[in-house]
Amino acid sequence: MRFIKVPTVVLLFFLLACSGQHLLVNHQNLSVDQKIDSLLSRMTLEEKIGMTHGNTKFSTAGVQRLGIPDLMMSDGPHGVREEIKPHSWEPAGWTNDSSSYFPTGTALSATWNPDLAYRFGQALGQEARARKKDIILGPGINIMRTPLCGRNFEYMGEDPYLVTRMVVPYIKGVQEQDVAACLKHYALNNQEFERNQINAKLSERALREIYLPGYEAAVRDAEVLTVMSAYNKVRGFWCSENSYLLNDILKGEWKFSGIVISDWAGTHSTVSAANAGLDIEMGTNKPYNEFYFADPLMDAVQKGEVSEKTIDDKVRRILKVMFKSGVFKEDRAAGSFVTKEHFDVARAVAEEAVVLLKNDNNLLPLNIKKIKSIAVIGDNATRKHAAGGGSSGLKALYEITPLEGLKNKITANTKIEFSLGYKKTSKFTWDKGVLNSFNPEEAQKLRQEAVSAAAKSEVVIVFAGLNHDFDTEGIDRKDMVLPYEQDILIKEISEVNPNTVVVLISGSPVEMPWHEKVPSILQGWYAGMEAGNVFADILFGDVNPSGKLTFTFPNTLEDSPAHTLGTYPGRDLQSEYSEDILVGYRWFDTKNIDPLFPFGHGLSYSTFEYSDLKLSKAKIGEGAGVQVSLTVKNSGNQPGYETVQLYVQDIESSLIRPVKELKAFEKIYLQPNEIKNLNFKLNASAFAFFDEMDMQWKTEPGVFKVHAGSSSRDIRLTADFKIVNTINDTIDIFID
Ligand code: BGC
Repeated sequence: MRFIKVPTVVLLFFLLACSGQHLLVNHQNLSVDQKIDSLLSRMTLEEKIGMTHGNTKFSTAGVQRLGIPDLMMSDGPHGVREEIKPHSWEPAGWTNDSSSYFPTGTALSATWNPDLAYRFGQALGQEARARKKDIILGPGINIMRTPLCGRNFEYMGEDPYLVTRMVVPYIKGVQEQDVAACLKHYALNNQEFERNQINAKLSERALREIYLPGYEAAVRDAEVLTVMSAYNKVRGFWCSENSYLLNDILKGEWKFSGIVISDWAGTHSTVSAANAGLDIEMGTNKPYNEFYFADPLMDAVQKGEVSEKTIDDKVRRILKVMFKSGVFKEDRAAGSFVTKEHFDVARAVAEEAVVLLKNDNNLLPLNIKKIKSIAVIGDNATRKHAAGGGSSGLKALYEITPLEGLKNKITANTKIEFSLGYKKTSKFTWDKGVLNSFNPEEAQKLRQEAVSAAAKSEVVIVFAGLNHDFDTEGIDRKDMVLPYEQDILIKEISEVNPNTVVVLISGSPVEMPWHEKVPSILQGWYAGMEAGNVFADILFGDVNPSGKLTFTFPNTLEDSPAHTLGTYPGRDLQSEYSEDILVGYRWFDTKNIDPLFPFGHGLSYSTFEYSDLKLSKAKIGEGAGVQVSLTVKNSGNQPGYETVQLYVQDIESSLIRPVKELKAFEKIYLQPNEIKNLNFKLNASAFAFFDEMDMQWKTEPGVFKVHAGSSSRDIRLTADFKIVNTINDTIDIFID
């Protein structure tokens, strides 16, 4: 008998043909690449193209005969969105899709706690899996360039280093649940106004130093599986057909091997987009076969304008993401939905997110045993926010309002009187923006009632701020002023009651002309389903606040760089980023402008002392790093968290550098009198700038300072060192 040697792959094809589709995707002896090759070789061009565009609002087609299922997506980024009908934006009417509502991006970043970002990602990923999603459309990490951007609340603030530290664990947490994260909006969707046409024009240095680091870290360190191209243009090309951003940087330099998905209806061409690196087109209102990446893509391949190799690359990427997110695994993670663990994550994030902006005479925390009467004022005391904001809106299983939280906390000893004080008279509409039917007489009447309630109470808590008519996708705010004449309300209340606390609910900064009159101010964000309980815990001292701002609160809008320079919102659809790298605190510090509350600011009910700042070397060579150590003591009488921030300053530089830049931080928990020694490593990258001439990161010899502080404007200790270009034995040994 003669045996013929048959290569394994051929044999497997044969077996596959005889024994059904699942063999191939699940076969243990083939590598993922081999499986993908085999699948690709068996697909028709139609089938391949079918995988590159939407077949419902939130899915793309699979190839059923080969065991490839449809790819299911959902918004993100702070919970799994309500199920909608496959072919319209209407709710599908499910009764079991009310999800956990986690605090939004600005709140998460304000925790300055990467471990919480990881737990947030895990919980979100588990909810997405339980809802049978393959991709969750988040996180969003566009840098806050203007206080007015309607979507600031979804993002993680103004500092690229902080974003990298928070986004990496978020994505890892999601993707460990067998779900792909979708990093958005790549790139420079820094305003909602004219987002579909605006062209961002900026220097390579600003691009690399400010706007891209978060994306790069997400690709290189978290291996994010999908990226969403933004709506806007960058340097003349829509992000969905921007070969420089997609092919050169993302897929080239960073070696991103996942899928680029267009923002919904953000594709503008077939050939350009297909060749520029877009892999999937989502969300137009045309029939699916008329999508740019449907019949027109077929025609383009037939005409040779897009090669079949390019299509194969897209399908290969899609299949790879499917393999990596466990689509073909028999024991794929099943996830879990609306569990106690997830509510606890939402609560833990909120507890560490709330920022104590101001606390004169230690008005807070309030003493639950002593206070007999509290006036609770403001529409935001009873408003729920989960459903608003555009695509990130959710049907939350529950959301504890501030008033409910306070009622849950107090005992029969304390009386709460609620008075509306101001009323939400606005309504957000996609086509006309915010419609406001504000009535000054009615406002005055509400104010008078609230002021008289305030006058007869021991303490007043005003829940003021914005809501998702203003912090929303689709529009930017017109100014930084609190709507509905809240400024007048707060001022009048503070005049009748010195024990006034203002809790601001917003995802972006507001002007506070009354800030000197009010002893205590908290920034409460959109703090998720447990928000009300957490506010009560903080107000009464069961939780010691530890959030820190991740963006500057300017005194007035005009102080903010893009507004001082008049470059927002752009002219003739062109937005010149002439503030360049001086975004957020980089601008305020360098131009010596006092903010209302600076980046990194956030008080505690405790106090912390910093001492013994030491650097490992006084001199290092270019390319080397330096180790930094210091000691922090809880000098107050309450346990609490402190976030120790390290900023680097380049004293001698051939080109403009910001006065200081955040390069390391650590959040620590200390009991009263407890002391901790902290050690940080600052690698060469902490001292580098992006050199546009050579298109690479560079450090220059000279003196550098390391500032250790409790905020960007509360620097406690400073030390310097020198970078030299002669190698000698005093040079530190550790290199990146
Ligand atoms: C948003 C995306 C979102 C998508 C799908 C778009 O309007 O910009 O962030 O993921 O819709 O809802």
